[in-house]
Amino acid sequence: MKIGIVGAGMVGSAAGYAIALKGSASQIVFVDYNSDLARAQAQDIAHAVPFASSTVVTAGDYDMLKGAGIVILAAGVGQKPGESRLQLLARNADVFRQIIGKVLSAAPDAVLIVATNPVDIMTQIATRLSGLDPARVVGSGTILDTARFRYLIGVHLGIAPQSVHAYVLGEHGDSEVLAWSSARAGALSVKEFAAQMKSPLTENVKAKIDDGVRNAAYTIINGKGATWYGIGAGLERLVRAISRDEQTVQSVSIVTPKVEGVHDVALSIPRIVGATGVVADLFPELDDAEHDALGASARLLKSTLDALDY
Ligand code: 2OP
Repeated sequence: MKIGIVGAGMVGSAAGYAIALKGSASQIVFVDYNSDLARAQAQDIAHAVPFASSTVVTAGDYDMLKGAGIVILAAGVGQKPGESRLQLLARNADVFRQIIGKVLSAAPDAVLIVATNPVDIMTQIATRLSGLDPARVVGSGTILDTARFRYLIGVHLGIAPQSVHAYVLGEHGDSEVLAWSSARAGALSVKEFAAQMKSPLTENVKAKIDDGVRNAAYTIINGKGATWYGIGAGLERLVRAISRDEQTVQSVSIVTPKVEGVHDVALSIPRIVGATGVVADLFPELDDAEHDALGASARLLKSTLDALDY
């Protein structure tokens, strides 16, 4: 499958690099308003291909997206140290106004993957601007927070993160909800697994993991200015799920008819992902506090969107 990546900054290029290394697309085309940057990223990644796969990596203008089955939208600015994802909104909404029409004229049948922050609201904006079925406009949402959650639970339990099934719900941002009550390790609840392994999940341990997940981006941005490898791998995972029609469960953001009483809001819950984008939504069992927190996250996203004039 041919993949377009609009936005050749760190996130777009990390996604392209991961896709090229895994060979999960036959062709990648980078498009960026800075065409020199797009060309340079394409060349650099193309030079990794002989070590890894046969993906053809190029750069060009929007017309070059013709025939793409997936277009990743990674254009826009990222957070500066101390800035929240929601503070980027007005600037990145303007960027989407300029690019969505051009993407769809060239690749009218593509599934859109939205990576630009604040990703939930940008997903909602991309859905409105494109007029596409919401299931075809898939925000990376909490795919990365879920990876961070699984990683940190795995570290605590001394097992591979692949054996941990735990999801982060709601906003990809400060109001996100770590769904502890439905978290599993193997076939056990994480609480039972931790007890059997003699490393109990105390409130203190859970608070540290919560902090490690919720504040990961702030910590990394303070150290290196931005985050890109984790999200790059997450975007590659979504590309694979869509291009191979995997029907795999991922926590991604799409405009959802109703979550905790809030209508038409884009946020993450676990969803089945296949060739057409999101195939089905899943609502995990939550305790009362998690339900409340998810409702608060949904209301925050909805009111932020409502305040934006676009
Ligand atoms: C991240 O969570 C900044 O959204 C980006 O790494």
